[in-house]
Amino acid sequence: MKIFAIFGNPIKHSKSPIIHKLFANQLNIVQQYEKIYVPINNFNNVINHFFKNGGLGANITVPFKKMAYNICDLLTQRGINSGVVNTLKITKKNQILGDNTDGIGLLKDLKRINFIYKNSNILLIGAGGAAQGIIYPLINFGCTIMITNRTYKKSCHLLKYFNNKKNINIIKIEDINNKKINYDLIINATSSSIKGVIPNISSSIIHSNVFCYDLFYSNKITPFLDWCLYHGAKKISDGLGMLIEQAAYSFFLWHGIMPNTTLILKKFKTNNYF
Ligand code: ATR
Repeated sequence: MKIFAIFGNPIKHSKSPIIHKLFANQLNIVQQYEKIYVPINNFNNVINHFFKNGGLGANITVPFKKMAYNICDLLTQRGINSGVVNTLKITKKNQILGDNTDGIGLLKDLKRINFIYKNSNILLIGAGGAAQGIIYPLINFGCTIMITNRTYKKSCHLLKYFNNKKNINIIKIEDINNKKINYDLIINATSSSIKGVIPNISSSIIHSNVFCYDLFYSNKITPFLDWCLYHGAKKISDGLGMLIEQAAYSFFLWHGIMPNTTLILKKFKTNNYF
């Protein structure tokens, strides 16, 4: 049996096992995909144990994407570009290969729902692993990104990491109201939605032409998107589409075959797999 798993903390809410089961059924692949809870200080031990015991591939979620990057023997170009990984694979030579499929998954979903254009001016809220993983493909697509975060220092670290890119800037979250910038797209990449709260940010960022995207997903509207709609956003979307797209790129890395994500997204919603 081919064994895969997702590692995170918390992990209970993860829908990745259902999504990978739908992919496997669609493509007649027999595999096992589990959810593994990792104590905060034990990531390396848990992941090494998994691979030593026959695990072939892993997805990595909050808050271990940077740690996962650090244990890789090899990286894909996407992994190198982002500096954090959400997908691991054991190679034939028993090396750990790291990839980042979050950014490409997000970009594919944003294009699908027509939330993004080549010159979109994006406000990215959050500066953790999730935010870092999506920056490169967005600027590479042609967008400009303003990063803001509760802890300003972390935005500075991200800016430094991508220091060769001209179209990234940072702003203190408390200064948002003073600089009247018209964003085309706002992305919430904080983990605040997991706790059912929203980032403390001025509602002046919301206007009638702005698209708002939350990387989080749930069966009801996320608190952040609810707040965006309340303040008059044009359109909103949660991160279910991105979740399915990034999973599909991981699946491709492991099996060399791409699932039909349009069908899976439809199936997920119809059957209310939330
Ligand atoms: P992930 O891999 O999901 O990005 P992370 O690296 O732990 O996880 O980062 C979490 C992000 O969510 C950070 O940007 C964090 O802000 P801080 O850098 O200030 O910690 C942000 N975040 C979490 N809870 C938040 C909240 N209640 N309000 C605003 N930002 C929050």
